[in-house]
Amino acid sequence: MATATTTANTDVTVIFSEVGFGAGGLDDPRLSEADAERLVSAALDLGVTVFDTARSYGASEERLGRALRGVRDRAVVFTKGGYGIEGAADWTGAAVTRGIEEAIVRLGREPLDGFLLHSCDLQTLERGDVPLALVRAREAGKVRLTGYSGEGAGLAWAAERRETFSVLECSLSPLDQANLALIARAAQGDFCVLAKRPLANAPWRFATRPDREDIAVYWDRLHALGFDPAPLAWDELALRFTAFQPGVTTALVGTTRIEHLASAVAAVRAGALPVDVSERLRGAFAARGRGWPGLV
Ligand SMILES: NC(=O)c1ccc[n+]([C@@H]2O[C@H](COP(=O)([O-])OP(=O)(O)OC[C@H]3O[C@@H](n4cnc5c(N)ncnc54)[C@H](OP(=O)(O)O)[C@@H]3O)[C@@H](O)[C@H]2O)c1
Repeated sequence: MATATTTANTDVTVIFSEVGFGAGGLDDPRLSEADAERLVSAALDLGVTVFDTARSYGASEERLGRALRGVRDRAVVFTKGGYGIEGAADWTGAAVTRGIEEAIVRLGREPLDGFLLHSCDLQTLERGDVPLALVRAREAGKVRLTGYSGEGAGLAWAAERRETFSVLECSLSPLDQANLALIARAAQGDFCVLAKRPLANAPWRFATRPDREDIAVYWDRLHALGFDPAPLAWDELALRFTAFQPGVTTALVGTTRIEHLASAVAAVRAGALPVDVSERLRGAFAARGRGWPGLV
C-alpha cells in the first residue's frame, strides 16, 4: 500500500502510504503517553508511513517524536508552522526559520522530513520573506520537503510555485471537492498531495447538528448532498473516494483510535470506488455543492 515518490524540485524519494496518520489527536488529554505510543506503533504495524502534525497541535509533535524514536526510517513526518514562536512575529521569515529549528528539537528528527506553511494567506505568501525562509532551510539541509497547507488563493498560489514547494496539503472528501481539479493538475507537476479531512470529520456520527463549527459545516453539507452511500458505510465510501482521486498521494486520517485507523487502511485496501459511484458523488457535489469552499 505504499509508493515511492520523487517530489517536485528535489531528488528526494520518499515512501508514501495511501493512508497517513493525522496526529493532531495525540494531544487529546484522554490519551496517556502509553496510549499515544500504542497508536503510533499500531499505525506503523498497519503500514502507515506518513505522519502529519503541527506546532499548533499541542503535545502532538513531542509525543510523535518520542513514539518514533528508534524507527526513524519507517516514517515520513510532516509538521507545519509559521507562528507561535516567542520573540518572532507570526508569519515572518524568522518565525519560519525558528519554527523549523524548534520542530527539529520537538520531533527529535534532523533534518525534518517535511515542513509546511500552515494556512497563511495569499498576501503573506506574496510578500516573499516567508517562502524564502522555507527555501533557505531546505538549502541549509534542515528540511527535506517544503510545502503549503491550506485552501483557496494561498493554495492556488503555492501550486504554481514548484521551485519553492513540493508538497501541498488540502481538504478533500465527498463533502469537500473544491480542490479536485487543482490536485490533479498539481500532481502532473510532481507535487505530492496530502488530502486532509478525508472523512469530512465523519459528520454521519451525529444525529443532530454538532457544536464544533467545522463538523457542523460538514453536517450541513451531508444533509444538503442527500447522497445514499449504501451498500457501503459512509466512512468506507469517503476514504475510497478520496484516496483514489487523481493526484492524491496520501489521505490523512485523524483519529485517536487504533480500530478506526485499521478500518481506514482496510477500506483503502479494497481499492477505488466503482467508477459510476465516484462519478455520482462528483455529480452530486457539482449539483448541490457548487460554491462550497475547502475547509481550512
Ligand atoms: N492543515 C490544516 O489546517 C489541517 C486542518 C485539518 C486537518 N488537518 C490534518 O488532516 C488530518 C485529518 O483531518 P481531521 O482529523 O480534521 O479529519 P478526518 O480525518 O476527516 O476526521 C477525523 C475525525 O473522524 C473520526 N473518525 C475517524 N475514523 C472514523 C471512523 N472509522 N468512524 C467514525 N469516526 C471516525 C475521528 O474520531 P476518533 O478519534 O474517534 O477516531 C475524528 O474525530 C488531521 O489529523 C491533520 O493532520 C490539517
